[in-house]
Amino acid sequence: MYRNKTCGELRLKDVGTQVVLAGWVQRIRKMGGMTFIDLRDRYGITQLVFNEEANASLCQEANKLGREYVIQVTGEVNERYNKNANLPTGDVEIIVSELRLLNASQTPPFTIENNTDGGDDLRMKYRYLDLRRECVRANLELRHKFCMEVRRFLDSKGFLEIETPVLVGSTPEGARDFVVPSRMNPGQFYALPQSPQTLKQLLMVAGMDRYFQIVKCFRDEDLRADRQPEFTQIDCEMSFVEQNDILCLFEEMAKHLFKTVRGYDLGEAPFLRLPWSEAMRRFGSDKPDMRFGMEFVELMDVLKGTGSFAVFNEAEYIGGICAKGCAHYSRKQLDELTNFVKTPQIGAKGLVYARVGEGGEVKSSVDKFYTQDVLEKMRDQMQAEAGDLILIISGPDAMKARKQLCELRLLMGERLGLRDKNKFALLWVVDFPMFEWSDEEQRLMAMHHPFTAPKPEDVPLLDTDPAKVCANAYDMVCNGVEVGGGSIRIHDSVLQSKIFKVLGFTEERAQKQFGFLMNAFKYGAPPHGGLAYGLDRWVSLFAGLDSIRDCIAFPKNNSGRDVMLDAPSTLEPGQLEELCLKTVLPGK
Ligand code: AMO
Repeated sequence: MYRNKTCGELRLKDVGTQVVLAGWVQRIRKMGGMTFIDLRDRYGITQLVFNEEANASLCQEANKLGREYVIQVTGEVNERYNKNANLPTGDVEIIVSELRLLNASQTPPFTIENNTDGGDDLRMKYRYLDLRRECVRANLELRHKFCMEVRRFLDSKGFLEIETPVLVGSTPEGARDFVVPSRMNPGQFYALPQSPQTLKQLLMVAGMDRYFQIVKCFRDEDLRADRQPEFTQIDCEMSFVEQNDILCLFEEMAKHLFKTVRGYDLGEAPFLRLPWSEAMRRFGSDKPDMRFGMEFVELMDVLKGTGSFAVFNEAEYIGGICAKGCAHYSRKQLDELTNFVKTPQIGAKGLVYARVGEGGEVKSSVDKFYTQDVLEKMRDQMQAEAGDLILIISGPDAMKARKQLCELRLLMGERLGLRDKNKFALLWVVDFPMFEWSDEEQRLMAMHHPFTAPKPEDVPLLDTDPAKVCANAYDMVCNGVEVGGGSIRIHDSVLQSKIFKVLGFTEERAQKQFGFLMNAFKYGAPPHGGLAYGLDRWVSLFAGLDSIRDCIAFPKNNSGRDVMLDAPSTLEPGQLEELCLKTVLPGK
C-alpha cells in the first residue's frame, strides 16, 4: 500500500489518526529544530512536520530531500498551531514517524507553483512538470468534467458516439491539410481530417439518426490564441431536423454545461438570434462580444460631404463608437489608440476623435473641417453626452473599416473593464452569406463549407446572383468567441452539384473529390444538419484563460511545434526512401 489518504483530504476530524501519504516534495522549510515539508499530489498539499528533538535521524533524512523528490510518509494527523486559511488542509499537519524515499529528482528547471518563475518556452519543454502546477492541472480537470457532461447530455438525447477514421482523403475548400504518406501506396497520401464533416453526413445516410464524437481535428493554418493545429471538436449531426430544432437542442446543451460545469445560470430566455448582416453592421464582427454595448453608429449622412475633410468625403463608410466618460483621455492616450488602429494587423489609416464637453460642446480632431453645428449633429446621432469620447473610423472599403472599428471597440471594452471574464453573453449568429469572394483565388468560396444548404427561398438566386445567397448556417458565439458552428446540409445530389459549379468545380473534379458523398445522396439521404463545438474554446472560456493552449495537456507553440517532443522533425534517409519521398527545401 503506497497510501491510504491523499494530500488533499485531511481535515480537523482526522486529528489523531495514523495515515500514509505519498507525493512530491513541493517545499522544504527549516525553522530551528523543525523541518516542514509541503507534500503535493493531484488532490492537494499537506504539511509534514519533522522534529529534531523527537527523532533526530528522521529529521536529518528529511533535510536531505530536495524539491520534487517522491516520498512516502507515515504519521499522525495533528492540529496545526499556525493554521493556513489558504489551504483546504491548512488546519492540520502530519507528525511524521516514517519516511521512505520513492524516487529522487533533479532540481526542476522552474518552481512548480502557481506563481512560477518559468517562462513559456521552458514550461512547454518540460510540460510534464508544468502540468504538476495546480492552476494548470485544474484546467485539465475542468476539461474532463466538461467532456463527461457533454457525453451525459448527448446520451440522454439519444446521440450515439461513433468514431470516424483519422487517415482520410485530402479535401479542397478549407484550411490546408496535414498529410501522411502511404508506404503501401507509393506516391499517395492520406490527409488528417479538418473535421469529420463528410463522414458524419454519411452516418446520417446510414440511418444513425443522431451522432456525436469528441474528436481531434487537424488544420494547417496560421495560429492564434484561439487556434491550434490540432484541436478537439464536439462534433454532432442529426437527421430529420430543421434549423430551429438544432438551435434549441444545442442551446439547451450550452445551458446545461454552464450550470453543471461552471455553476453559472444562463437563465430561461432563448439566446438572441442575430442575422450576420446585422452583426456586421452593429459590431463589425460575425462573433460580437455582447457583454457590453458600444454599438457602431453610422455617420455617413452627417459627416460625408458636410465639411472639407477629404478622407470622410471619399469614404464608403464612416462609423463611430461612444466611450462613456472618456472625454478626459489625454493626448497621449488618444495617440496610443491611433497607433493601435494603425498597426499592420488592423490597418486603419487613422482615427478621428471628438470629446463632448460639460456643456455639450464638441472638440474634435477634425474641428477645422466642420462647423460646430455639424459636429453637434454628429454628437446627437451618436447619442453622446457630456464627458463622452467619440471615436470614428472611416475607409474606402466598408467591410474593412467595420472590422477596424470592431478591434477598437474590443480594446475600449477591455480598457473600460466591460469584458468581465466571469460574465457570459451567448448568442446565435444566423443567416450567413453562402459564399465569399476570394481575391487570391478569384472566385467565390464557401463561407462555411460546400455541404451547407442555402436558405430554400434563395435557391433561385444560385443561377442569377449567387453572391446574394444566404446559407442555412449558424454560429454560437460566447463573449466574442465562436464556440461552435454548423448548418443544415444539402441532401440532394442535384443541388450539391450546382453548389460545386458555383464554386468553380468542373463536374469531373467534383466527382473525383466528392463523388463518394454525391453518390451516397442518391441512396435516400435524409434531411439532416448539425454543428461542431470547439471543445478547447469552451474550456478556456469556462476557465477564464487567454489562450486555448492552457487547457490542452500537450499543446503546440505559435509556430506549430511541440517543443517537448521536438516535433516536427526530419526523417532518416531510409524512412524517406521507403515512402518514396525526397525533401527539397526552398532556396536549396
Ligand atoms: P468549423 O470550421 O466552424 O465547422 O469548426 C467548428 C468549431 O471548431 C472550433 N475550431 C477551432 N478550435 C481551435 N483551433 C482551431 N484551429 C479551430 N478551428 C475551428 C471553433 C469552431 O466554431 N464541420 C463543421 C461543423 C459543422 O458544420 O457541423 C466545422 O468544422 O469553435
